[in-house]
Amino acid sequence: MKKVLIFTYFICFWGKLHAQETIVQVKQEEIRKKVEQLLAKMTIKEKIGQMNQYNGFWNVTGPAPTDGSAVLKYEHLKSGQVGSMLNVRGVKEVRKVQKIAVEETRLGIPLIIGFDVIHGYKTVSPIPLAEAASWDLEAIKNSAEVAASEAAASGINWTFAPMVDISRDARWGRVMEGAGEDPYLGSKIGYARVKGFQGDDLSKKNTIAACAKHFAGYGFAESGRDYNTVDVGESTLQNIIFPPFKATVDAGVKTFMNSFNELNGIPATGNAFLQRKILKKEWGFNGFVVSDWGSINEMVAHGYAKDNEHASSLAANAGSDMDMESYGYVNHIEALINKGRVDIALIDDAVKRILTVKYELGLFEDPYLYCDEKLEKSVIGSPENQAAVLDMAKKSIVLLKNEKALLPLKKKGQKIAVIGSLAEDKNSPLGSWRLAADDNTAISVLEGLNTYKGNTITYAKGVTLTEGKTDFTLETKINEEDATGIEEAVALAKKNDIVILVLGENGFQSGEGRSRTTLDLPGLQQELLEAVYKVNKKVVLVLMNGRPLTINWADENVPAILETWHLGTQSGNAIAAVLYGDYNPSGKLPMTFPKSVGQIPIYYNHKNTGRPEIPAPNMVFWSHYIDESNAPLYEFGYGLSYTDFRYSDLKLNATSFKRGEEIALTFNLTNTGEYAGKEVVQLYIQDKFASITRPVKELKGFKMVSLEPGESKEVTFVINEEMLQFYSAKGIWEAEEGDFNVFIGGSSNAILKNGFKLID
Ligand code: NOJ
Repeated sequence: MKKVLIFTYFICFWGKLHAQETIVQVKQEEIRKKVEQLLAKMTIKEKIGQMNQYNGFWNVTGPAPTDGSAVLKYEHLKSGQVGSMLNVRGVKEVRKVQKIAVEETRLGIPLIIGFDVIHGYKTVSPIPLAEAASWDLEAIKNSAEVAASEAAASGINWTFAPMVDISRDARWGRVMEGAGEDPYLGSKIGYARVKGFQGDDLSKKNTIAACAKHFAGYGFAESGRDYNTVDVGESTLQNIIFPPFKATVDAGVKTFMNSFNELNGIPATGNAFLQRKILKKEWGFNGFVVSDWGSINEMVAHGYAKDNEHASSLAANAGSDMDMESYGYVNHIEALINKGRVDIALIDDAVKRILTVKYELGLFEDPYLYCDEKLEKSVIGSPENQAAVLDMAKKSIVLLKNEKALLPLKKKGQKIAVIGSLAEDKNSPLGSWRLAADDNTAISVLEGLNTYKGNTITYAKGVTLTEGKTDFTLETKINEEDATGIEEAVALAKKNDIVILVLGENGFQSGEGRSRTTLDLPGLQQELLEAVYKVNKKVVLVLMNGRPLTINWADENVPAILETWHLGTQSGNAIAAVLYGDYNPSGKLPMTFPKSVGQIPIYYNHKNTGRPEIPAPNMVFWSHYIDESNAPLYEFGYGLSYTDFRYSDLKLNATSFKRGEEIALTFNLTNTGEYAGKEVVQLYIQDKFASITRPVKELKGFKMVSLEPGESKEVTFVINEEMLQFYSAKGIWEAEEGDFNVFIGGSSNAILKNGFKLID
């Protein structure tokens, strides 16, 4: 009662905003006290139990133990030695394990239930890389909200997302899970996703704790091979890899996951620099860090730890608060404390962090908060969620080529051949990391196209992309032999006005453990494409894939190319809407498409080198290849529309500014085409010389501008000192005085250019 009166007083006196802050502080203080009180009651075993996470009994998202450890896990659960479970889902199942934790253990501490809610839950949204192509932060946040609401309704209260690993290597299968190559775009998207999952009140029934992963450097695996060694310099670490992680901390992310890789010789899981110095100290992160699956024990294979016990001491000392499936903490930490190799203060700190998140989630007030059968029935797969993922899917599509305005398709009187097994595939569009989705529940391209009745649509498979069962855990054998369907496809192409070829990767050819050495269309698809094109030039290539591909031949020959990624449940409807012009595409690539694998790593914000240009005709001594140009196939930020945009009249209101001041940049954007359209206008800045060399340009702002045909708008960006900051030779984030170039355009090949100075 007293507290309520104090609240009321504050609300009246300080106004709404201040009152809200105060409520949060009071709540935090209450939680802090409760955590302290609970901790005081806990035995060492119970404390260690909170740091132990076990996989449930169905989905396996890592190497599963084969020793029948389920019984042991169950015993541990009953004796309070498990703090969290992953891959337990559905109200009935979650309730079962939660009941054991709450009713059968001495202190009744509820479990936190984690799951990989990576892009949607049962209603699947586009893969994260696709969503990033929308550059639409509101839509991305909304998509995370929808995913959180479905997962929460299914008993889950913690997602292992967002993945904010920057990557410049399309060979790495996990690029599908991130936001691409750019730290600025990646930071904005990471922030939006955390806000979407967590909302402003974690204890609501439709919000869940987020997890920024994988800290850090995982996207820089050598040769794009998953789990491989990472060796990067300080500047890349600070200026490229860290910013999206820092952004998630700013967004209030509750948990972090460390990564499988070693970073400059020290595995991330045992890396105190990353977890203690940077994350917990410099950034003030007060949530907890979970290891990746088995990553504590993997430090033995890395050659960094002698055995599981040693690995556990390294991880705990380095700041890994929770052990996912290494069985290290539960088996060894007590002995390590007794031997003086792990300080109990560190254990207390880890446990406090974990308990705090459980309190914030509302689990102590009601351990079954997320176990509401009614909600489970009404929320999952609801029409609103379907509409939201459809909207996100349309926004994620990128138009790569459209010669002679082949697209959009006419709605009547056309004979259309649809070719390629992905066109009828109802599973692949769900993409990788869609554990909770039912198989074959995506709307296929064919189904989407068939909702438009004015044209005649005929289908031929052409070639089968993969043989046998495709599964999350099984290798997929690519069909490289059976070309018998090509003849039928060619015959069909001959008889039709237009051909829509749906080619790319199936849903399991990207994702974890799916690195590739080539980025061509897998299997016999290139043969199919060329054979069809020979007899009918009016080809629309619909790409379905989880990473950039090297589609040079298609780019040179095929008149229209649409990048549709793996778009989730509503895939076919979104693709059909774009093909028919009911939605004008506005996506822009979040990752460079190389011309060849040999160009990798290829990224727009590269350095200039000392020899960037050919010094004289036929001169060989400059930074280039003798068999390929330096230019990508499609650059970062690239994407067309059915309409055209003209950029003009770039102006700065000053040519220099002092620290703390700002300048305004304006330009005109005009829709010169025939359709209403939306353009993502992009601002890039180049620091011309500095205490460490700086990229040729860096994205520093973007806006979405909608224009009717013929309409023109003045667009303004404000440039300030903060936008010029980088991790300098002094080892701090600062802007250095000097000369800058600024570029404006519809891709990283931005066309308008000007310059300014920052003066001290
Ligand atoms: C391993 C993956 O690297 C990680 O991203 C995922 O969250 C865990 N497995 C749990 O499934």
